[in-house]
Amino acid sequence: MERRIKAPKRLQGTLNPPGDKSISHRAAILAALAQGRSTIANFLYGEDCLATLHCLEALGVAVRAEALPGGPAFANAPDAPPLGSKAGRRGTSSEPSRPDSVELEKGPLTVEGVGWSGLQESAQVLDCANSGTSMRLLAGLLSGQPFLSVLTGDASLRIRPMKRVVEPLRRMGARIWGRQGGSLAPLAIYGGELSGIDYHLPVASAQVKSALILAALFARGETVLQEPVPTRDHTERLLTAMGAELAVADGRIQVQPLAGALSPLHLKVPGDISAAAYFLVAAAIHPDADILIHRVGMNPTRTGIVDALRLMGADVAVLNESTQGGEPVADIQVRSSSLKAITVGGEMIPRLIDEVPVLAVAAAVAQGKTVIRDAEELRVKESDRIATTAGELRRLGARVEELPDGLAIEGGHKLRGAPCRSHGDHRLAMALAVAALAAEGETTIADAEAVAVSYPRFWEELDRLSGASRELP
Ligand code: S3P
Repeated sequence: MERRIKAPKRLQGTLNPPGDKSISHRAAILAALAQGRSTIANFLYGEDCLATLHCLEALGVAVRAEALPGGPAFANAPDAPPLGSKAGRRGTSSEPSRPDSVELEKGPLTVEGVGWSGLQESAQVLDCANSGTSMRLLAGLLSGQPFLSVLTGDASLRIRPMKRVVEPLRRMGARIWGRQGGSLAPLAIYGGELSGIDYHLPVASAQVKSALILAALFARGETVLQEPVPTRDHTERLLTAMGAELAVADGRIQVQPLAGALSPLHLKVPGDISAAAYFLVAAAIHPDADILIHRVGMNPTRTGIVDALRLMGADVAVLNESTQGGEPVADIQVRSSSLKAITVGGEMIPRLIDEVPVLAVAAAVAQGKTVIRDAEELRVKESDRIATTAGELRRLGARVEELPDGLAIEGGHKLRGAPCRSHGDHRLAMALAVAALAAEGETTIADAEAVAVSYPRFWEELDRLSGASRELP
């Protein structure tokens, strides 16, 4: 699908962002291990999280999306289509299509927990589609299960690095096979009989940390993990709320093996700050904008984009701070701003890792030269985001230099609409849409349907607030 975008005169309104993707994955996986039924409101039914649900179903976990008032319900009951059934898209041999949009209109997710020893061997290969979070977290979980599992994904996921989870999981005792010595998916895992480890993570990765925490729950003895830089801590928060024994201090996470049942979850997932980010930047760079975004997750490990925009001089107000689902949340109001360049690196990077493409858009409009360093992890995301962000923004007239570990952007040069493409990367598609809002003339984005990975309603919401984008026939 191709999308055409022209700069709107105004950008105005209120927005409820979709549920947080990282929290949705974790809540579903952990709820599967609980004793009893969990209810997860504002669950993100995007393609990535549908992939996780589909894998859980294959492992014998009953999941059901409750009907919204007036809408259809979906479940893995015999008379209903399976929840994650169309989740895969570019990856496996049959390259299945995207989920129907109607599938996205769902209410709370219920998960019938099978208890810590209740998962069953899947008769099928587990398809993680485009989702690195699904593959890495499930690799950790399945390393603790005494049966065979095979994990695969789409073409993008099959070239993303898996050694970072495979190596420590093998050290814990899991038997794992994969292409190139276990560096690449498909991965075959025969789990069980793990021992706790003391491990310094070589990369700052919440996915690796979470995989090892999940494995540690099933190990003999304590596991101690040390992070080089703090990363998102949603797994630690959810597990603590469910009754697991975890101690976190100074970047050290001590995990005890499960000694009893985990309590089910009853929570409302906060809005995804990584989804809200597109509208934060859109409003900041547009000359006539005022957007209020409701109930955004404000976990300090995720709010780097708010800090960066403020440093750039954006008019961002954080209002009505409270907590939801064990996480800080707030409303955020953003208005037209005049931005200046900043330098970003170090500990800030994991706090805005997924927002770098859209931060680059803000930098292209800001006065001065923005430099983003220490972000080499972007090379191994859904696309090589350093190369794809630089290449696509250059098509729009931005002056962007690729660095080995980041980007240097000489801002303040007028953006001009042009044909662009998403490279199948949801975050690049949305970042380019934001750039198009500030460009002269018309921009088209090819493979625009990639947004369904994390923000299925993105184009509708953009239209609602701006009237700026149209699907091309
Ligand atoms: C995620 C962690 C990040 C992030 C990804 C989601 C998570 O990846 O880029 O989109 O849910 O744990 P890494 O932890 O590998 O950096």
